[in-house]
Amino acid sequence: MSISALSPTRFLGGISGLLQVAFLLSLLLLLFKAAQFYLHRQWLFKALQQFPCPPSHWLFGHKYQFQEDQELQQVLKWAKEFPSACPRWLWGSRLTILLYDPDYIKVILGRSDPKAHGTYRLISPWIGYGLLLLNGPTWFQHRRMLTPAFHYDILKPYVAVMADSVQGMLDKWEQLISEDTPLEIFQHVSLMTLDSLMKCAFNDQSCAQFNRKPHPYIQAVGDLNYLTFSRIRNVFHQNDTIYSLSSNGRLFKQACKIAHEHTDQVIKQRKSQLQDERELEKIKRKRRLDFLDILLFARMEDGSSLSNKDLRAEVDTFMFEGHDTTASGISWILYALAAHPKHQQKCREEVQSLLGNEASITWEHLDQMPYTTMCIKEALRLYPPVPSVSRELSEPVTFPDGRSLPKGITVSLAIYALHHNPKVWPNPEVYDPSRFALDSTRHSHSFLPFSGGSRNCIGKQFAMNELKVAVALTLLRFELLPDPSRIPLPVSRIVMKSKNGIHLHLRKLP
Ligand code: HEM
Repeated sequence: MSISALSPTRFLGGISGLLQVAFLLSLLLLLFKAAQFYLHRQWLFKALQQFPCPPSHWLFGHKYQFQEDQELQQVLKWAKEFPSACPRWLWGSRLTILLYDPDYIKVILGRSDPKAHGTYRLISPWIGYGLLLLNGPTWFQHRRMLTPAFHYDILKPYVAVMADSVQGMLDKWEQLISEDTPLEIFQHVSLMTLDSLMKCAFNDQSCAQFNRKPHPYIQAVGDLNYLTFSRIRNVFHQNDTIYSLSSNGRLFKQACKIAHEHTDQVIKQRKSQLQDERELEKIKRKRRLDFLDILLFARMEDGSSLSNKDLRAEVDTFMFEGHDTTASGISWILYALAAHPKHQQKCREEVQSLLGNEASITWEHLDQMPYTTMCIKEALRLYPPVPSVSRELSEPVTFPDGRSLPKGITVSLAIYALHHNPKVWPNPEVYDPSRFALDSTRHSHSFLPFSGGSRNCIGKQFAMNELKVAVALTLLRFELLPDPSRIPLPVSRIVMKSKNGIHLHLRKLP
């Protein structure tokens, strides 16, 4: 080897040559990406020509139109200006088409497009790929396996369990209330619905709501609900590695750990109970199994049992979906009744004439409270616990008015905007239970708190039972009044919340 080959100038020259090549390659890659980005946006503009929307920033989309926690209100403004549908640019070339017309939504719910991957994948580290996130044949297999957990025979005895949990909450309220101080009810209702779900679906009698300390699972779900929702909206948090290094990403990881510890404990406990011969005998005698037992005894089509990962995903999915949605529903219904004393009193009279003052409620009673059911539905219209759901078009779609969208576009079924759409519901902001009177007519897809089609809510009947039990028993014990200084402000999350909690004055009835 000659000396000159090792000389520092030659060496440095070599490095700078490499750097130049690397620089050129990066520049080419950048140019290529920029061209790709530009062409994709052009393609989107062309594809969306028939769908006007307010002007947006090329990088930040409509971010500046959507002030924090004003999302629901902003979508309502757009719905007035742009009939049926409106594109919402999230950032760059990422967008979703908001749909709030029942005819449009009917078309989408009649198809079998998968859940929108870009959005739903962000929930997966928390609830895994259970029924809510699965697609295709695996979803179908799990749905068929779990449907019997919501059979009439199973749901019937749950009414007494739910009533017991509600009474527990009301006992607590009796001790907590004082004349002048309102009570923030959302936290209490969440504990109660968790308690009731754990007993019904998971055979767990630990009575979550009577612990003195705040329940870590409930706190974790509150955090995860907020963190997941804000990640969906943040361009810089889409990449998993970058997100995991951010402070929100670290909080998310910590909250997932707490949530998983809770569900793992529930599975472990049931598995250990099933070691007992007597418990096994009880199961064998049952014609139908509760939710967790179905999962533990499930045999897949090839004869294998459910993997631990799949089992955990279903438990995480149901634990979250089964309590947070009903907690939101019940809290908003109680608020709506507090704000409308005449309807509240009419419901109370109906429940009193049905149950007397005994407050022992059964399955048979649930179909005999028509006015209360109308009031519940009207509150679910104004405050739908799941404000929107999304799909990714697997095929092009043409809507009844002839406008069409290509394959690959994400559509968001904006349930909140549909329920507040003045073309569908005249005077939409008015609480008017008569909209749900038996002889009233409406579009089949104008009221969708539980979504619709094949991917509707599997827990709909369970949920409606719980809402009725909770409302009926609460009205027998308390008069509800709003706190005028803290009117709840609905904010969009995965499950709808009130920004400032739900504060009510409760007056014990004689
Ligand atoms: C008021 C209470 C409830 C409301 C408003 C509600 C609403 C919904 C909605 C809108 C969907 C569709 C989600 C989507 O398309 O992404 C859904 C799906 C689902 N819900 Fe509910 N839900 C409630 C209660 C429950 C309960 C009590 C359970 C379980 C015990 C439950 C379990 C599920 C599951 C597993 C799915 C996914 C179903 C599938 O894709 O096959 N929900 N729910």
